Amino acid sequence: MFKNSSAFYMPTRVFEEKDAVKNHVRELSALGSRALIVTGRHSAMANGSCKDVTDALDSAGISHVLFNEVEENPSTYTIMKARDLGVSEKVDFVIGIGGGSPMDAAKAIALMIRKADKDISYLYKPDGDSLTLPVAAVPTTCGTGSEVTGVSVLTDPDRQIKKSIPHKIFPDLALVDGRYLKYASGKILANTAFDALTHLVESYLNSKANDYSRMCVDAGLKAWAKSLDILKGEREPGDGDYYNMMLASSLAGMAIAHTGTTLPHGLSYSMTYFLHVPHGKATAYFTAGYLSEAPEKDRDYLLQTAGFSSVQDFQKVYRKACGPLDAEEDKVREVLKKAVLETGTNPAKLALAPFPVDMAMLERIAYFELDSEE
Ligand SMILES: [Fe+2]
Repeated sequence: MFKNSSAFYMPTRVFEEKDAVKNHVRELSALGSRALIVTGRHSAMANGSCKDVTDALDSAGISHVLFNEVEENPSTYTIMKARDLGVSEKVDFVIGIGGGSPMDAAKAIALMIRKADKDISYLYKPDGDSLTLPVAAVPTTCGTGSEVTGVSVLTDPDRQIKKSIPHKIFPDLALVDGRYLKYASGKILANTAFDALTHLVESYLNSKANDYSRMCVDAGLKAWAKSLDILKGEREPGDGDYYNMMLASSLAGMAIAHTGTTLPHGLSYSMTYFLHVPHGKATAYFTAGYLSEAPEKDRDYLLQTAGFSSVQDFQKVYRKACGPLDAEEDKVREVLKKAVLETGTNPAKLALAPFPVDMAMLERIAYFELDSEE
């Protein structure tokens, strides 16, 4: 299938099970002696994950400090605020709890605490070393896969961009417990599940795909498909479903850790930045268009393994699960234009598509969903 060369690198120790945090206090406490816990304002409290972590740390006699100010699409300023707290509190490891935002923030914070003498520009410094404090990640949504990737996506308000930092920071430990998904709203579940699916699709349709990354994609799609009827609203999820949804998300994370994401993710960032469309909903907005440009056999494999009969079937489920865009068509078109321009002038992103992409194709992908709405 590929040239005779494949590589697999996944340095995160992963435990996925009920009570993962409680069962792995030893592994967690081995990371340091004083922890900075990084979360958003509410969900880690509501779903019990933060209490599980503090109980685990208390039981091991590890002290901890809480930073619970991570917003959606965390800004570089938030990272610096948490860094200052971590430095003054002399923490020696960082635990990110929540969806992609707190976990991505935890990685960047662990970097900047280790680089206490550097200023905010170090976050996007392309040639700086990426040494960090140890990081643990506890996901509470089923989309980002950040617990098993080196990726940290931040927003830089000064440059008005949302972008991955160039540092690759894999968590040392991922404690994955599907029970936390019980407390996620139906919309969050849908948006994050579609994020995981887009990771699987974009990792498969990717010029960096290899046999190992596709092994993760295949297993991820099969796990993802088991929850499709939940996303269709045909039944309520149970414990086994939460496990599968988390598993699909982590496998998708492992896949993109090898390949990166490609056009739908590239196009999505403007939608999120300018229209505040949630990340998974924004990436999946471009998936039907991306699939429609792919070779037929790849498109059929991806759709069928995920449980869809066609591109139109995918669109139907996506629209029902994630809902319409909350913006006027003119505004959407304006942002899509920006998205095409930004992605079209990013040769690194374009090169990750496994087929040649010109501006006309990029526009077809970008406007596919809008132009095919009934
Ligand atoms: Fe994503």
